[in-house]
Amino acid sequence: CGIVGMLGRREAAPILLDALRRLEYRGYDSAGVATVHDGRIERRRATGKLSALAELLERAPLPGATGIGHTRWATHGAATEANAHPHATERVAVVHNGIIENFRALRARLEAEGRRFESQTDTETIVHLLESALDAGMAPEKAAAHALRQLEGAFALCILFAQDPDLMVAARRGSPLALGHGEGEMFVGSDALALAPLTDRITYLDEGDMAVLRREGAQIFDASGAPVERPMRVVAASSVLAEKGEHKHFMAKEIFEQPTVSAYALGHYLNAERTAVRGEAADIPFDEADRAVLVACGTAHYACHVAKYWFERLARLPVEIDVASEFRYREPPLSRRDVAVFVSQSGETADTLAALRHARPQVRMAAAVVNVPESSIAREADLAMPILAGPEIGVASTKAFTNQLITLAAMAIAAGRRRGALDAEAEARLVGALSELPRLMAEALRRAPEIEAAAARIAQARDVLYLGRGPMYPLALEGALKLKEISYIHAEGYASGELKHGPIALVDPQTPTVVMAPRDALFDKTVSNMQEVMARGGRIVLITDAAGAEAAGEGAERVIRMPDCDPFVAPILYALPAQLLAYHAAALLGKDVDQPRNLAKSVTVE
Ligand code: G6P
Repeated sequence: CGIVGMLGRREAAPILLDALRRLEYRGYDSAGVATVHDGRIERRRATGKLSALAELLERAPLPGATGIGHTRWATHGAATEANAHPHATERVAVVHNGIIENFRALRARLEAEGRRFESQTDTETIVHLLESALDAGMAPEKAAAHALRQLEGAFALCILFAQDPDLMVAARRGSPLALGHGEGEMFVGSDALALAPLTDRITYLDEGDMAVLRREGAQIFDASGAPVERPMRVVAASSVLAEKGEHKHFMAKEIFEQPTVSAYALGHYLNAERTAVRGEAADIPFDEADRAVLVACGTAHYACHVAKYWFERLARLPVEIDVASEFRYREPPLSRRDVAVFVSQSGETADTLAALRHARPQVRMAAAVVNVPESSIAREADLAMPILAGPEIGVASTKAFTNQLITLAAMAIAAGRRRGALDAEAEARLVGALSELPRLMAEALRRAPEIEAAAARIAQARDVLYLGRGPMYPLALEGALKLKEISYIHAEGYASGELKHGPIALVDPQTPTVVMAPRDALFDKTVSNMQEVMARGGRIVLITDAAGAEAAGEGAERVIRMPDCDPFVAPILYALPAQLLAYHAAALLGKDVDQPRNLAKSVTVE
């Protein structure tokens, strides 16, 4: 969820709404704003996208210069208006991101006191806790501190009080929160992005902090209640102005940005002569490690899956990969001879952050591969490695995936050098192959019309299979995930060789199979698996290169030709046709490509 707050000198509602637009990536099930005006709290809430709230505010404007707003990704309770934030009584209003773990016990106690709940959310518990403290005669700040002490879980929140329009309380416990300093105005936001047009002077709250804001500034207290100073920084807003430009969707824009942003990552991690890896990638003590442990969620996890092939092949380093939500709870044995790497576009994914916190004290080094340099994961890791993809707005990750891969590839090469598995010549060859990517990507994108034609067939299917072998296997998983996420067509990725051990039962003429197979050492084996599908009436979309098309294109319903490339970089290059296939299928079906149902760009709850 995304939260904003404002103690302003002008009407708050339009400004809050605008800030919420920049937070919509955190969820868009419902949204709301509340203001304090003439000693009363008033609010407007609407289910669905922010546009619904915008229409409501147009019909029924909300007066007042003090306000809070929220855009929700449902956890407790369906996406109804009653469950939408802000939650409020006559005297307090709260917006909240995260989960209050002990809310059932608190709610039972508050209901026993005679307090009536209107929603199923955990958030409403906070409202009644505050109300109960105010009823006991506490001043608003005291009531907030008192309520906060009773809450368990990971969250961020922002509170308004009807009795004092010059007061707002914000608190951070596990979910990030930024304070923005204006000219006689103060702001609160889930991230600096939300506040970018309002101010570039930002104070990040630390874990456990509570801030008492007034128009003239903020007083911050740490977890023990002692007053503390937190630094104010000037955050560049230039990276923030995300526009779609000539593209219909952010996802299309971001797919087509890959030749450009891949060059940023290559420029950072490769030397100017394009012969060696440099930068943070070369600073990790892989030579002192017995193992690398790679942890992430969703698309970032598939990037780790590709990287496992690279680290094992190029650096002879054993690699373990896991999804972050499983990693921590299986209590994996870790040691000082492990290097752990956490990969996250947003740097705020709660599962990944919790996994980092769990592993960091136990391992030699905890590194983070992130797109947002000020994010929690970047700040808490021993070493943060930027992927430099620029803001990614489309919920389905595209350019962040390929830049994660480039960063991980550079790390794997550096690991190979440190461990003596690669010599300088081998390093120069691999670095040379990576540096071809911007050109190869631009060429691959010129195949967009062919891919769109193939997507027309995919769009008619109910189920789609994706196959790949070696490092193309995780690409098959990622291709299937992209299609599921944005077109809602059921898709599964399999290792080509595994198909015959079960999933081949799914093959029929209605189920297209996408085969991702550059002509590498494993090509012939993948082609055999493809023949097994065709022999059973399956229809094939083959993504390959010229030699692959020549050798095996016959019989495939569609062949998408990628430019020839070094097999080392094929998993990066072949991500592009997989993204375009999903994009065009979803766009042809008229789906909401940038904000698919039920998802959020950044999931800040475990
Ligand atoms: C969410 C998104 C996915 C993303 C995952 C990890 O679930 O919907 O697209 O891959 O989070 O996000 P991160 O920001 O940690 O890379």
